[in-house]
Amino acid sequence: MCIAAFSWPSSVGASFAWFLLGMVLAERLTPPVHANGLERIRESWKIPSDSMTALSPWPKDFSQGITPVQCLSHNDYWRSVPLFDALAAGCLGVEADVWLDETANDLLVGHRASSLSSDRTLQSLYITPLAEILTRMNQGRDLGRSGVFETVPSASLTLLIDIKTDGHTTWPVVMDQLAPLRAGGWLSYWNKTDGKLSQRPITVVGTGNAPFELITADPEYRDIFFDAPLDQLADNTSFTAENSYYASVSLKKAVGTIQPWGPSRSQREIMKRLIETAAKRGLVSRFWDIPGWPVHLRVKLWRFLVESGIGTLNVDELVQATQWNWDWCVVAGFVLC
Ligand SMILES: *[C@@H]1O[C@H](CO)[C@@H](O)[C@H](O)[C@H]1NC(C)=O
Ligand SMILES: *[C@@H]1O[C@H](CO)[C@@H](O)[C@H](O)[C@H]1NC(C)=O
Repeated sequence: MCIAAFSWPSSVGASFAWFLLGMVLAERLTPPVHANGLERIRESWKIPSDSMTALSPWPKDFSQGITPVQCLSHNDYWRSVPLFDALAAGCLGVEADVWLDETANDLLVGHRASSLSSDRTLQSLYITPLAEILTRMNQGRDLGRSGVFETVPSASLTLLIDIKTDGHTTWPVVMDQLAPLRAGGWLSYWNKTDGKLSQRPITVVGTGNAPFELITADPEYRDIFFDAPLDQLADNTSFTAENSYYASVSLKKAVGTIQPWGPSRSQREIMKRLIETAAKRGLVSRFWDIPGWPVHLRVKLWRFLVESGIGTLNVDELVQATQWNWDWCVVAGFVLC
């Protein structure tokens, strides 16, 4: 601000001020990089088989120093390094879109049918590495219930499986493919005898074409939970913590288009009401389709949602969500991002 006091032509002074502010911001936004196993894996990972080879020998400092955060890495398999980028950022949830390949009876991971390849599978990118990570994290421990984050071993990682192909034919394959995690005792489950959700290192949630009636088919036990429609919770008491974990809706569907300067009062009230309804039902609320641009709108929405008690933030921008101090977008009253 002292810059403005110099007798330079005001435009030069202003540009210089912006330049300085930009420098300050860039420095502040450079996140601290933890020297741990996850960072080394992110640097060396090139192909899906690296998700396993990178774990051998086991990096003992795998998730050292990482603070887990309630965010879901949206379309996680799209990142340069699936799974590990999200874990390195401390995200407590990853999302994989799965397609049944009927010939191979396998689940391929990808956004569109045209972008699938036989080496990118639910097993290769998620299940096998997670089983290996949990085996290693629990070596020498009695209970075997430590999760992937060393700093908070009780934190459960949500694996959101978005079924893209027919729900009824894909479902049994999803159930089968979770076998290694189930065998390790690593899946959160609901058991009628206990009458409550028992949290374990991984919580599996089915969305997309995941069929509610198959998720609830066994009245005694389940270890895959439904992604309930957040906008229908108030009218439908079928969705409870016994069968569902997330309750989600597209933000646009819930409140309409949000103007660049921020949500209106009534839009804020709708969001708050939905978040409260989910919390009362014991479900984790989530909005997807949060506008990504302008950045200050996204940050404003994140902040509003977090202050309103959102269950989890659905994010595309992992580093911004987990490692920025969101206040830093505003420097000396200027909105810089
Ligand atoms: C449910 O819990 C009861 C009591 O803890 C236990 O005996 C039973 O084996 C459990 N059922 C399943 C399917 O895990
Ligand atoms: C509630 O949702 C379930 C699952 O989609 C559906 O079968 C049921 O008919 C719904 N009930 C009401 C009252 O809308």
